[in-house]
Amino acid sequence: MGAMGDRNSPGRRTSPAPSPPSAAPKSQSPAASPPAEEAETSTAPAGILPAEYWIQQGLEESHNDNDSTFEDTVSSTASLSESILQYRTLHGRTYHSDKVTDNQYWTPNDEKQKESMDIIHHMIMLVLDGRLFRAPLRDDIQKVIDVGTGTGMWAIDFADQFPTADVTGTDISPIQPSWVPPNLRFEIDDATKEWTYPANTFDFIHSRYMFGSIGDWAGFYREAYRCCKPGGWVESFEPSAVMESDDGSLYERSPMDQWGKVFVEAGRKLGRPFDVPQQDLQRKGMEEAGFVNVDIWDFKCPLSGWPKDRKLNEIGMYSQLAIEQDIEGYVLFMWGQVMGWSSEQIGVYIAHFRRQLRDYNVHAYVRMRSVFAQKPYTDAR
Ligand SMILES: C[S@@+](CC[C@H](N)C(=O)[O-])C[C@H]1O[C@@H](n2cnc3c(N)ncnc32)[C@H](O)[C@@H]1O
Repeated sequence: MGAMGDRNSPGRRTSPAPSPPSAAPKSQSPAASPPAEEAETSTAPAGILPAEYWIQQGLEESHNDNDSTFEDTVSSTASLSESILQYRTLHGRTYHSDKVTDNQYWTPNDEKQKESMDIIHHMIMLVLDGRLFRAPLRDDIQKVIDVGTGTGMWAIDFADQFPTADVTGTDISPIQPSWVPPNLRFEIDDATKEWTYPANTFDFIHSRYMFGSIGDWAGFYREAYRCCKPGGWVESFEPSAVMESDDGSLYERSPMDQWGKVFVEAGRKLGRPFDVPQQDLQRKGMEEAGFVNVDIWDFKCPLSGWPKDRKLNEIGMYSQLAIEQDIEGYVLFMWGQVMGWSSEQIGVYIAHFRRQLRDYNVHAYVRMRSVFAQKPYTDAR
């Protein structure tokens, strides 16, 4: 391979993940200490509390919410054809069209959710110190694809940064803006089906936040391998839905503990995992497909503004903002359609969850994993 561009030189192999402080101040908030009385209900599979539990708990007023106000932004949509705009609706929220895929994607595709996606893009840029990727790409890179591009923010920024590259963003929802760099186009394509691109097309295949969207990660990377040029790179950035703390401040049976458990169980039911880093699915899928030179970087992403460290605090604030922007959008389908909770049960759970999220005595984080790898120049298999 020729000279490597160094503008995005990767933080090599599993850099130390920032750890939350070990000593947690004692919490004053009802949300940060286990409920005095456990509900008279048994737990469902995998430690999941029954939906009724949250209604039985009641919701006392919290006095230590760290409320933040954030500005709204508006994005425009690109219309591609009529059928892909026939959105499904659920409790007033719109979801991608059934005409595009039989693979029910779990978040809405409306403005509320799109704003959350855009905030997450900004947050990940902070996590990666302003870089869009970690793979050692050449400056004269040609063909690039962002699979599951969402609002297309990553693809837009990449196309701006590499004006001579030809960038494609794909998704099952036509929610991308129409004013984009001239070297970028968006296409509707279901990444869980056989990809519509010929073999050896792309120099770089990027995907991000596809947890809960993909059942067969090995199959996903087989397609990526086929469509990647020899010597080209694949990169994946995935969070886990499992919320944790290192100091016990996020205790079992609390709303944030349940968040991960319900997502993992609902994902198991759907056949699309939400704990991708824990299952090491990116690395396994890439290696199984034949990619080599695998590089892994792990990060513990704070979920609110609790960290004292300035950078982590900022990341945590954006993380909290992204979640609070659309808690309902994140749980409606998985809790309601997959787990069978009623609207009331979901609503009450969300109120408990939000209160705990705002309690900075709870030092919660989710694991994130970035993995990149290279397609060999010659396929030795
Ligand atoms: C959480 S969003 C992430 C968007 C973007 N990658 C980012 O990081 O900002 C996941 C996106 O994947 C898309 N998606 C879900 N299933 C898909 C599939 N089978 N094929 C293509 N895109 C899919 C969704 O429509 C959604 O826009």
